[in-house]
Amino acid sequence: MKKPNIAILGATGVVGREIMSITTELGVEFESIKFLSSAKSAGTKLKFQGKEYTVEEAKPESFDGVDIVMASAGGGTSKLFAPEIVKRGGVIIDNSSAFRMDKDVPLVIAGVNDEDLRNHKGIIANPNCSTSQLMLVLKPLHEKATIKRLIVSTYQAVSGAGLKAMKELDANTKAHIKGENFINEAFKKPIAFNVIPQIDVFTENGYTKEEMKVTNETKKILHLPEETPISCTAVRVPVYRGHSEAVDIEFKNNISPDEVRNILKNAYGVEVIDNIDNYEYPTTRDADGKDPVYVGRIRKNIAFDNGISLWCVADNLRIGAALNTVRICKKVIEMGLFGK
Ligand SMILES: NC(=O)c1ccc[n+]([C@@H]2O[C@H](COP(=O)([O-])OP(=O)(O)OC[C@H]3O[C@@H](n4cnc5c(N)ncnc54)[C@H](OP(=O)(O)O)[C@@H]3O)[C@@H](O)[C@H]2O)c1
Repeated sequence: MKKPNIAILGATGVVGREIMSITTELGVEFESIKFLSSAKSAGTKLKFQGKEYTVEEAKPESFDGVDIVMASAGGGTSKLFAPEIVKRGGVIIDNSSAFRMDKDVPLVIAGVNDEDLRNHKGIIANPNCSTSQLMLVLKPLHEKATIKRLIVSTYQAVSGAGLKAMKELDANTKAHIKGENFINEAFKKPIAFNVIPQIDVFTENGYTKEEMKVTNETKKILHLPEETPISCTAVRVPVYRGHSEAVDIEFKNNISPDEVRNILKNAYGVEVIDNIDNYEYPTTRDADGKDPVYVGRIRKNIAFDNGISLWCVADNLRIGAALNTVRICKKVIEMGLFGK
């Protein structure tokens, strides 16, 4: 198997650092690796697999000879560099929302729709974090009973908004406890001891961009008919790491909670913790630093015909971003989908 030359774009960010450690954990084999950031962090020394590397400022020529770029440097940066990467024969696996809904760009959750990777034209998109965890749960259920309607409420950690947001939760909490004034910048409202029903900007239909990402990306990944009704409310909670979701699904065909439990127990990337008699259900902390999407509170939904409600939690920085990016990178290598 040919080994690629790899670049990590946005290596100094929250997601970039996770990509580095997961690249080692998953044993991605490469010929060479380099780490790129903006001018701000260029020159930073990073330890990787026992060797010291110097972070370089990303420029078009940084991608000369690079086969695979794992990018988590924001949409503007991806839009700027993707054409340069593709022009040089490279493949970019992008964490931003820049290309997700582009019809020529596969939007992929490894283990859910790997075959879509074969259609890539140099750009592969990684879904939004709240969509990602949901796909691993919904795919096997959809295969069994066919999704008819979906309602999702998310409870999302601040790390989903980057390093600055994590620091703001910390500073805001300390200020609140001391009774000091605090000016919030990363969020529209104070995040300490609070719950904020807004993630990203509002769109014309009253939903936020984050909420519409869940709707549109779910349809694209699961190849659902465009008219499938999907509604999401996305909420920011004062949690550092881990997104939780309450999910209500109406299926075309009848499916019982026990069937759902059995299917999910055998599903790729999912772990079921579901025994209410013993108060066993997953909480956000259970997912911290872990790979699976944890599912519990599986029950018949009494508002829908053929309805199921469930609760799922996952580490947003892993399955929601870095883990899926590195898993895609491994698939691209295994399927020989680079260096063409
Ligand atoms: N956090 C999550 O849960 C999550 C989940 C899914 C997707 N994402 C997406 O992943 C991306 C990064 O998120 P993050 O949370 O890791 O953000 P972050 O902590 O703010 O890190 C941003 C990274 O991008 C680099 N960067 C910024 N502008 C650049 C430029 N012009 N050229 C090259 N590098 C540049 C930064 O370098 P400097 O150090 O030099 O500033 C830093 O390495 C975003 O698109 C975000 O939407 C994040």
